Amino acid sequence: MVLTIEPLDARKHIRSGFSCGKDSLDNYISKQASQDLKRRVTTVFVLIDDPDFNILAYYTLSSFTVDITALDKAFAKKLPRYPLLTATLLGRLAVDNKHKGKGFGELMLMDALKKSLNVSKQVTSLAMITEALDTQALNFYKKYGFKQFKQNHMKLYFPIKSIEELCRTLDI
Ligand SMILES: CC(C)(COP(=O)(O)OP(=O)(O)OC[C@H]1O[C@@H](n2cnc3c(N)ncnc32)[C@H](O)[C@@H]1OP(=O)(O)O)[C@@H](O)C(=O)NCCC(=O)NCCS
Repeated sequence: MVLTIEPLDARKHIRSGFSCGKDSLDNYISKQASQDLKRRVTTVFVLIDDPDFNILAYYTLSSFTVDITALDKAFAKKLPRYPLLTATLLGRLAVDNKHKGKGFGELMLMDALKKSLNVSKQVTSLAMITEALDTQALNFYKKYGFKQFKQNHMKLYFPIKSIEELCRTLDI
């Protein structure tokens, strides 16, 4: 068995049994994700233990624009005064209940950060943006260096430069 992160393939991956404790995230992977993928609304990456095709965890990535006035001053002051700048949205991240606490959340987050860094070298991105559904998720993201938006503390961002430093430190 080999842990593998790969793009969602609706014909191959088993989505129906996925349960992370948040209905919106469970419904999304079983009912909406493959449609979003087909319509190019977002990319969806899943963790499987190959050759078992049950989904252990998943995340989604898409492009986003961010209002720089919502960012903290120390970060925003280094940026040009364009009202909106491009970013990468980590729209969803979830680990199946049976597999929480095994490091899969961290594995998926690091993979998403590394992908966003790689993509930013082709099409620029200022930061990764995400939104926490509750304080537990908020604490999870803050642990890795995400910063909270000024006006909405459940929204978080991680500057690409900081992602680059993290990836260099972790040698990934
Ligand atoms: C949040 C979530 C992704 C974490 O996944 P996980 O696989 O259980 O987490 P990991 O095993 O990779 O844990 C990695 C580290 O984060 C820590 N961590 C996990 N959940 C945490 C939390 N709620 N608050 C603070 N730290 C947390 C772990 O202790 C671990 O740190 P350690 O190595 O120092 O012990 C998972 O619990 C989940 O899917 N939750 C429901 C959906 C959700 O809230 N998604 C977030 C986006 S809205």
